[in-house]
Order: sequence, then C-alpha cells, then structure tokens
Amino acid sequence: MSSIKPASPPVPRELCAVVMAAGQGTRMRSDLVKVLHPLGGPPMVGHVLELCRRLGVKRTLVVIGHQAERVRDALATYPVEFIIQTEQRGTAHAVLQTETALQGFQGDLLVINGDVPLMTDALAETLLRTHREVRAQATLITTKLDDPTGYGRVLRDRRGVFKRIVEEVEATAPQRRVKEINAGIYCFSAPQLFAALHKVHPSAVKGELYLPEVLPILMKARGRIATVLADDPREVLGINTRAELAEAYGILRLRIVKRLMEGGVTCLDPATTHVSALSRVGRDSVLYPQVQIEGYTEIGEGCTVHAGCRIRDSRLGNRVTVLDGCVILESEIADEAAIGPYAHLRPESRIRRKVKVGNFVEIKKSVIGEGSKVPHLTYVGDAIVGERVNIGAGTITCNYDGFAKHQTVIEDEVFIGSNASLVAPVRIGCGAMVAAGSTITQDVAPDALAFGRAQQVNKEGRAAVIRRARTKP
Ligand code: UD1
Ligand code: CA
Repeated sequence: MSSIKPASPPVPRELCAVVMAAGQGTRMRSDLVKVLHPLGGPPMVGHVLELCRRLGVKRTLVVIGHQAERVRDALATYPVEFIIQTEQRGTAHAVLQTETALQGFQGDLLVINGDVPLMTDALAETLLRTHREVRAQATLITTKLDDPTGYGRVLRDRRGVFKRIVEEVEATAPQRRVKEINAGIYCFSAPQLFAALHKVHPSAVKGELYLPEVLPILMKARGRIATVLADDPREVLGINTRAELAEAYGILRLRIVKRLMEGGVTCLDPATTHVSALSRVGRDSVLYPQVQIEGYTEIGEGCTVHAGCRIRDSRLGNRVTVLDGCVILESEIADEAAIGPYAHLRPESRIRRKVKVGNFVEIKKSVIGEGSKVPHLTYVGDAIVGERVNIGAGTITCNYDGFAKHQTVIEDEVFIGSNASLVAPVRIGCGAMVAAGSTITQDVAPDALAFGRAQQVNKEGRAAVIRRARTKP
C-alpha cells in the first residue's frame, strides 16, 4: 500500500492512542453529540475504541468536550481515559490536551478522528507497520475519492512527494480538484508530535489549529512523513452528516451480513437483514427477510427467525423458532422453544425448553417452565409458570392493582381454561385446573378444580319470544 520501501526491519515500540471526540458535530443537526450517534449498535466512536482494543494499544485517551458527561457515561465500559478539551479550537488543539497525560511517553501514538469508525484491523496494522518500517515521524492514511468534498486534500510535489494537507475551506480551486484526501487517521512519534503541535498556527480562514499542520512542521525538522493509501475508501469514510451516517451503516451492515453467511448462517434476503455489530448468530440458523437483531443478542445454532422480527439484547438457545412479527427484548429463550407469530416478549422473560408461546401473546418479567404452552391471546406478567402447564386462549394475569405489581404462581401441570383472569397475588397449585372464564382471586390447592364464574341460567323458549316481539308482522 505504501510507496516507500522499508529501510530496515521494524522496531517494536510502545503504542498509545488518542481518539478525538470533543466536537459537537454541527452538520448532524442533532441534540446528541456526533460521536454518540449509534452505528449498528455501539456509538460511532465505540467502533474506534474497539479497534484500539483489538490492536493491543497500551493506553487509549479519548478527548471529549461537547456533552462530556454524556460521552463519558456512554463509553464507561471501554478501558479508556478521558481528557477534557474545554474549547474546541481544532484537531491539533485537541491532541495537545493529552500532552500532560502522555508526559514521558516515547513511543508511537495512533491518532484517530472519532468520526471515522469503519477502519479495519488490516488497514490499521499496515499503518503501524509502515510507520515503523520507514522510521517515519508521522504516517497518515489517505485515499482517493471521486467526490472529495469536505475532506482535507493531500498536496504532493511534482515527483509525488507529500507536501501538506489543505482543508477544503482554505483550498484554492485547483487544490479542491485533488482527489486524494486525508482520512484523519495518523501514527506519530509522540515526542516529535508534541513539539510540533506547539508550533501550529491558527488557520487563515477558520482560525482553528489543524492537526495536519504538524506534518510540514515535522518535515522542516527533517522528519520523515509516510502515507498509506487505503485501496477501499469505504474504510475511511468520515461521518459528518446523517447521509454519511446512513452510508456508513450500509457498509457496516454488509460486512456483518457477509461475516454471518461465512459463519454458516442463511440470510434469505441479505439486503434486509440487520444484525448489530455486537450480536452473534450460530451456524445453520436462518434469518428471513426484514429481521432486526439489536444490541448484545446471541442466537444459537439451527434457529429460524421469520420475517419482521425485532430481537434486542436477548439470548436464544439452539433450534428456537421465532415466527413472523415478534418483538423480543432482554429475554432468554431456551432450546427448541417456539415463539409467535406476533408475540411480544418484554424484558426479563425466561422461556424454558420446548415452550410454545403463540399468537398475540405478551409476556413480561415471567418464567415459563419447560414444555408449557401459552398458545393464544394471553398476557402473562410477573408470573412464575411451572412445567407442562397449559394456559388457555385469552388468559390474563391481573398483575397490577393500580398501585403495585403482584406475582402469579402457576405450578407444574396446571390447566388454565380459556379466558381466565388470575388476580395476583395468587397461586395455582400443582395439577390444578381452572375453569374457562373464571376470575380467580383466591389460591387454588394442588389438584383442585376452580370455578370462578357466574352460574349459567337457561330460560326455555325465551329467545323465540323476544324474536317474535321484535319482528314486525
Ligand atoms: C478532518 C481533517 C481533514 C480530514 C477529515 C477526515 C482536520 C483539521 N481536518 O476534517 O483533513 O480529511 O477529518 O475525516 O483535522 N474534534 C475535537 N476537537 C476539536 C475539533 C475536532 O475533538 O477541537 C474532533 C471531532 O469531534 C471529530 C474529529 O475531531 O471527531 C474530526 O473533526 P471534524 O470537525 O469532523 O474534522 P473534519 O472537518 O471532518
Ligand atoms: Ca469529520
């Protein structure tokens, strides 16, 4: 990828990273700071931090400013340090804020814009390798774009030797026609970088301190600058607008779907399969069109997820079937269970092995024991349901009295007739039966039959009388 030949074998050096994430991202026109916009699950900047983690970076410093507390909270699970940039005076100024924290660090510093989330490990490794092989003081990734609008352009001399980067707003018309752009991903020798950062002058048009300005400064001090040309510009797409966010998501989605298929998952319509970057799907599972798998979801082997399902932060065992139109949130479904069509599993639902949850059933914060069936039109909330239980159509656990939630316990092998209301707190003992249409307000002993409905009265001939009275002669 690099045009520069190696001078000698690479020198292993310590590696730290600085990720710039202090800007507001005005072009997003959002109340949410740009780097926190979700991209296939994690926030945009999370992808950069994951990359740093995979590269084995010793310390990762994230420069934050706009909505600093929100960014800090959102990134709390990443092993990073936060550095505050109170005023956003440009990318050089952002990196300068890390100087104190990196005092005495003699190694290499990977510096990445927080809005360039699609770089692959291979490209990052090429950057680091090139930097070390040519003993550069700075190495930057560039790429060629048919439409370079918005990016800093790479200026080279007639022999093709790197000269400097010119930002679009400062560029002349001929400079704007240059197709090679700065990706916003760099590797620097730390001590030389910080020395150079102090010499950067505010830009003519915007008055900002631009990070790429250190490059000519380093060259003047006889430092070597290397460039790595990314063959695939999609890897270095910078996100400034909603349109670019959508474009990045499209690229990421395709990568994920490709990885799934390589891992033995059938995606019947890859163009409409959405799986978050943090989710996993086991081999021989089949995803029908319009499936959306979000957050940290794990789907086992041999599962089938039919069209129009959304599954978030859930765990499915093996050979689970989810029929069309289900919403499954923060729940667990064990092996060989079948869900749907049109079922809604709300958070903390635990569906055990071989359970059937059928049409238009809503389950919330409940356990449904092995082999039990909840086949139609039912609400089960705050309940513990034992094994081999049958819950008839239209059964409702009345778990809320307007003030507090109460629990329903249905022990093993209970049969609940259709259209029963179980007014919690209530317990139905093992093997008991509840007659259809019952309103159950008291516990039912094991093996008992509970009737909780008004007695039926049949009036002989009465219907005929009414009909006659209403029909005009
Ligand atoms: C930057 C580069 C440009 C390059 C492009 C690649 C500069 C001056 N320009 O332009 O050459 O082609 O990225 O995508 O570096 N940030 C801070 N503090 C600041 C300013 C910015 O932390 O004071 C952060 C932003 O949050 C963002 C990143 O730095 O994550 C880049 O800033 P942005 O304003 O998007 O730079 P570009 O105009 O895209
Ligand atoms: Ca940008």
